[in-house]
Amino acid sequence: MSNDLGLLHRFVPGNRRAAAPVLLLHGTGGDETDLLPLGEAVAPGAPLLSPRGNVLEHGMPRFFRRLAEGVFDEDDVRRRAHELADFVVAARARYDLAAPLALGFSNGANIAAALMLLRPDVLAGAILLRAMVPLAQAPQADLAGVPVLMVSGASDPIIPASNSAQLAALLKKSGARVSHRVMPAGHQLSQADLTIARAWITERDTRAA
Ligand code: MLT
Repeated sequence: MSNDLGLLHRFVPGNRRAAAPVLLLHGTGGDETDLLPLGEAVAPGAPLLSPRGNVLEHGMPRFFRRLAEGVFDEDDVRRRAHELADFVVAARARYDLAAPLALGFSNGANIAAALMLLRPDVLAGAILLRAMVPLAQAPQADLAGVPVLMVSGASDPIIPASNSAQLAALLKKSGARVSHRVMPAGHQLSQADLTIARAWITERDTRAA
C-alpha cells in the first residue's frame, strides 16, 4: 500500500505487463482492496491501480461529496475528478503504465464518468457498473473512439433508468463508443456483471492484438 501520489492506493503489477492497466474505483464504503478480486477476474494478469477515495461520509470512503443519495456536490465532483486525474498521471510515471481503463462501481463509476468528461485524455476507456450522470452541466468533451461499457440494473433503486440512459447518450455525443447493457438487477453487482465485463475486455484485447 502506498500513501503518496495524492491518494492512498494499491498497485498490483500483474504478470501480463502488455495488458491495458486497470484503474479500480470502489463504491461508497469500499477501499483500495475492495475491487482487486474483481479486477483480477475481469482482466487476469493486468496491472491494477486501486486508489481509495479521499472523501469520508460517516466514516465511509467515497470519491466525492454528495448532498443526498443521488444528489451530488458538483463543485466537489469537479475538484475530486481533477485530483484523481492528477493521481493517474503521477501513477503512470511512477509505475511506467499506459493510459488505464477504469473499472468503477457505483460512486467509483460516477467519478470515472466525471473524469472522462472533465479530463478526456486520462483514460483509455471505462467499464461503468451502476453509473449515473455525475454533472448536470457537463463540459463538451472529446472522447472520440474511447470504448465504454456501461452495465446498469433495470430495478436499481438509486439510479432511474432514464438517468443511466442519459449518461450513455452524453458519452456517445462526446464521441465515445458506448455499449450499454441493462440487466434484470438492482444496484448490487452479480456474476453477470463480471461475465459481461470480462467478455468486453477480452474482445477489446483480441482486437488490439
Ligand atoms: C453516488 O453517490 O455516487 C451514488 O449515489 C452511488 C452511491 O455511491 O451510493
